This record gives sequence, C-alpha cells and structure tokens, in this order.
Amino acid sequence: AGSLGATAAQSGRYFGTAVPAGKLGDSAYTGILDREFNAITPENEMKWDTTEPSRGSFNFGPADQIVSHATAHGQRMRGHTLVWHSQLPSWVSSITDANTLRSVMDNHITTEMAHYKGKIYAWDVVNEAFADDGSGQQRSSVFHNVLGTGFIEEAFRTARAADPAAKLCYNDYNIENWTDAKTQGVYRMVQDFRSRGVPIDCVGFQSHFGSSGPPASYQTTLANFAALGVDVQITELDIAQASPTAYANTVNACMNVSRCTGITTWGIRDSDSWRSSENPLLFDSNGNKKAAYGAVTAAL
Ligand code: XIL
Repeated sequence: AGSLGATAAQSGRYFGTAVPAGKLGDSAYTGILDREFNAITPENEMKWDTTEPSRGSFNFGPADQIVSHATAHGQRMRGHTLVWHSQLPSWVSSITDANTLRSVMDNHITTEMAHYKGKIYAWDVVNEAFADDGSGQQRSSVFHNVLGTGFIEEAFRTARAADPAAKLCYNDYNIENWTDAKTQGVYRMVQDFRSRGVPIDCVGFQSHFGSSGPPASYQTTLANFAALGVDVQITELDIAQASPTAYANTVNACMNVSRCTGITTWGIRDSDSWRSSENPLLFDSNGNKKAAYGAVTAAL
C-alpha cells in the first residue's frame, strides 16, 4: 500500500503510466513516477517513426533511456508498439510490393524485439488495426492493403520467434463496449488465433474514455476476452474530467476479472496528457493527487 503500484501488487497486478523520455530529467515528474508506478509504457519512443526512420537504420536511443530508468527502478515495461498505421514513416507507407513490405515489417519486429529481448513484459505487437466504421473488419492501412488480413498473424508469429518470453498483445481503442462491431471483430480474431495456435497472449484495451467513463458492459468485455485464454490489460487509461466514480468503475472491472493483469494511465499529471485540456489523469498539473486518485486506490 501507499502507492498505486504497491496497492495493485497486493492482487498481483501492476499499475503503470505512459512516460516520454523528455521528462526523465524533471525531478518533480520522476518523483511521482517512481513513488507511484511499477510499470512504464514509452509514450512515443518505441514507435516506428522514432525507431526506424529510414529503412534498416534503427534509433533506440530515446527508448533506451526509458528502459534504463525502468530497470533502475524495478518497473516493468510494456513495449508500444511494433506495427501501427500511425506515426509510421512515409518510406513504409509508400511500399506497394508485398514481398518487400513483409520483409520490412518482419525485420522491424525482429530487430526492435531483439534489442529489448528479456526487458519487456508485454509487447503491443499490432496497434489499432480494426476499423471504426461498424464493419467489424480491419481498417485500411498499408499493411492491410498490401499484405491482406493475414498481416496480423504474420506479425505475431514473427514476434514470438524474436522474444519467446515476452507476452504478445493486440491493442486497440473503442473495443470496450461488448456489442460494438469493432469489439466483436477483434474478439473473433483472437478466438481464431487461439483456435489455430497463432501466438497471442494478451489484449490491451486503451480505454480513452469520455466523462462518463467505461460502458456498462466493460467488465463483460474484459471477462469474455479473458475466457479465450488471454490476459487482458487496461493500457492507456484516461477519462475526461477524471470523475472518481468513472475511475472506480474502470478499476473495479479489472479487479473483478482475474486475468486482468494491470492498468496503465496515459500519463501522470494533467499537464502531461495528450488530452490535457480535459484534465483526464490522476494528478493535477502541480503533481497533487486528485479525487480520482483516492477512488482508484480504494478500488484496487
Ligand atoms: C499518443 C501520444 O500520447 C502523443 O504524444 C502522440 O502525439 C500521439 O500518440 N493510441 C495509442 C497511443 O496507441 O500511442 C497514442 O499516444 C494515443 C492513442
């Protein structure tokens, strides 16, 4: 007890946050980070535009700073993310030949995972591959358009070979409400992967919520995915206006699902948030605990 991480650890879970390398020199920031959180997700530093800005030329410097910090402070790392249509350099998105793109994607996964082998608890192997259009199908992306729907399976098989000890996750947003077509599409994919032995260990629910927090079916969604034999994690939590009730409902849903193994908020202070105008986090811009902090602690 006494911190988010220690309280979560009482039930074997972690409590993490997104961290940008640029804030590691801010002692007010790292003071809260290292007091409260026992898991870290790099906010941008492991994304393709940073790690392989030109073909075959890798830059792990910014992410290495974060991993070193985590190692020094006993925090586990979520790797985020290997294959995503966004923050993707144009040299990748302009590839039109399938053999070229497959080899580029596999090399990116293999090289990045090899660099961090043994240091990553869970990787978001593929991020946000499903569409928001109600179809329940994959979205348009260079990976989908050039390689076909099998690109996700290819990515997970390549990832398993690169670091067999890391948990391999599929991560997405707007998959929190059970009846949504997007949720059902991802569910069917995970069900298919499990039935055919395609390696997948976890599903990340980003959980970027509006002010009312999670949908009523949130716990059902987490439980139904977990019943497929995967861990589930809340990976990028933030809630507009940070209502204590909305935060408590979110945490309670995870606590009620034994395979919900951890919760990550997408930043520490409101001023650190990508949604800073919505004040969605657990600490105010001065680093003080907000009411939602107490609600989360009580629910953990
Ligand atoms: C966001 C970062 O917080 C921003 O700093 C960046 O400009 C854009 O990406 N889904 C994800 C995260 O998986 O990687 C995104 O992070 C937020 C939405």
